[in-house]
Amino acid sequence: MKFFADTAEISDIKELAATGLLDGVTTNPSLIAKSGRDFKELTKEICGIVKGPVSAEVVALDHEGMMREAEILRKIADNVCIKVPMTIDGLKTCKALTNDGSMVNVTLCFSANQALLAAKAGATFVSPFVGRHDDNGFDGMELIGDIRLIYDNYDFRTEILVASVRHGIHVLQAAKIGADVMTAPPAVIKGLVKHVLTDKGIEGFLADWAKTGQSI
Ligand code: G3P
Repeated sequence: MKFFADTAEISDIKELAATGLLDGVTTNPSLIAKSGRDFKELTKEICGIVKGPVSAEVVALDHEGMMREAEILRKIADNVCIKVPMTIDGLKTCKALTNDGSMVNVTLCFSANQALLAAKAGATFVSPFVGRHDDNGFDGMELIGDIRLIYDNYDFRTEILVASVRHGIHVLQAAKIGADVMTAPPAVIKGLVKHVLTDKGIEGFLADWAKTGQSI
């Protein structure tokens, strides 16, 4: 399963990229607003740090407007992936852009039927928001399982990008279902390395090593 960082913070992206674990980045208008940076400049900087897809979201709601914005965004770097909302205009834009060789991430997906539409529109990625789905009394991971089943039934190539990931259990469940990608805040990705027995083990080994009086 590929790991994308769901952030627009350069320091976090650099730190994760240095681990070799980072396969891409996802941003959205809220994350850009939080960064306080210029959208296009920031996107260019992120694309220079990470080789994989970097999602940059359009804000127009009509097809023509989305195409205009996508034209500007896709010129920023070869690894820009245009993010469009799950609407008729978004799907129309997805079809036009992927036919033209661009990567497209169809975002704000909350049902398996929506994911079916994204695949039929030729999306590179579909982003089901599991955390927000859970928040509203639904089962986010059941949604991922349904989408996996449907995509496998018809051999759709659209990658399932599990988004709105809130904790390690989401990551584990997404991997068990066979999602292609998950995107999570940097803190969630870094948290995956933690285990109380790992910390305890290091502590014990170091205490015993100190008794030897040796150094390496
Ligand atoms: O990138 C979109 C998505 O991951 C948002 O997550 O935590 O705001 O629901 P969240």
